[in-house]
Amino acid sequence: MELLSLFPHPIIQGPTAGGSNTPAQIAAVSNAGGLGSLAASLLTPDALRAQVAEIRRLTSKPFALNFFVQGTPAPDKAELERAAGLLKPVWTALGWQELPLPAKWCEDFAAQFETLLELKPAVVSFTFGILQRAQVQRLHEAGIAVVGTITTAEEALAWQEIGADAVIASGVEAGGHRGTFLVPQTEATLGAEDLLLATVAAVGIPVISAGNIMNGADIKRRLALGAKAVQMGTAFLVADESAIHPAYKARLLNPGETPTRLTRAFSGRYARGLENRFMREMAAVETQVPAYPVQNALTGSIRAEAARRGDAEWMSLWCGTGVAKARAMPAAKLVETLVAEMQAA
Ligand SMILES: Cc1cc2nc3c(=O)[nH]c(=O)nc-3n(C[C@H](O)[C@H](O)[C@H](O)COP(=O)(O)O)c2cc1C
Repeated sequence: MELLSLFPHPIIQGPTAGGSNTPAQIAAVSNAGGLGSLAASLLTPDALRAQVAEIRRLTSKPFALNFFVQGTPAPDKAELERAAGLLKPVWTALGWQELPLPAKWCEDFAAQFETLLELKPAVVSFTFGILQRAQVQRLHEAGIAVVGTITTAEEALAWQEIGADAVIASGVEAGGHRGTFLVPQTEATLGAEDLLLATVAAVGIPVISAGNIMNGADIKRRLALGAKAVQMGTAFLVADESAIHPAYKARLLNPGETPTRLTRAFSGRYARGLENRFMREMAAVETQVPAYPVQNALTGSIRAEAARRGDAEWMSLWCGTGVAKARAMPAAKLVETLVAEMQAA
């Protein structure tokens, strides 16, 4: 089925991993005529089945699931000791004697992939890597449209080559992690509009634009530049149904003069969020921490403790450069507002 005919408004609520992305939010967006996406990367197969059942209880409309394309690492003791040492200023500031080790490094992508085939959402999107052509074929045989996240035009060509139905062109302004997989993350520096233009020129499949899209006028402009739809993350993070920590939501709604910036310190992959004490403490060593997902798992206990204390200075405050324009309202109302603004623009 043609991907973009699945939802009437060209608005995708971006997947936002880390607990913010609730079935209620996804269903509300899809019911309002956008495409809701569930961030499934951190979910076990059973948790994924339960969340998809809940989405299907709340909507009969199409929705997307989203995964990180990744292998499971096996870091050695020396690497872990070094990594814990780099994080020492943070865990000593929390009053800890040592950094607890996580129970696992990440979910098993192969198991998630089989669960995805069983659950058959209308759409699946991927980031952090690229599939094998045979995997795309299996998804297509199951009737699932396949979308790859890209940060360079070459990455878009790679997804097109293996049969993807569309790509999400994620500019450097976007909140959360960079999806870069063909070049070093520091080299994927294009802003969303330049990346959109380069990608539309390079590929024949539909391009979905992401990064710093906060209102209907922004959407209209991206469509005029050749996007077939947009994906918005930060705007939906502050929606009423978003389950992010109240202290995080408060910071997003009142960012003041705090800048957003890219950091690798939380997870080992560059990601954009509001600058806070964790980022500043780790700035000097952030290029030395282990790659995703090892660093992400190692900082899990720190972020969980920050959530328990309600202390946003140790949380990952992921959001895009447009955060000051984020508006709190129910997700369906946000879709309606964006559509009305597009029409008025
Ligand atoms: C908190 C947060 C978590 C995110 N998690 C994911 C994710 O799990 N998978 C993914 O493909 N994109 C993820 N993204 C990217 C969004 O889906 C979206 O593409 C991006 O936020 C668009 O840029 P914007 O924040 O400027 O709207 C995340 C973004 C944020 C802010």
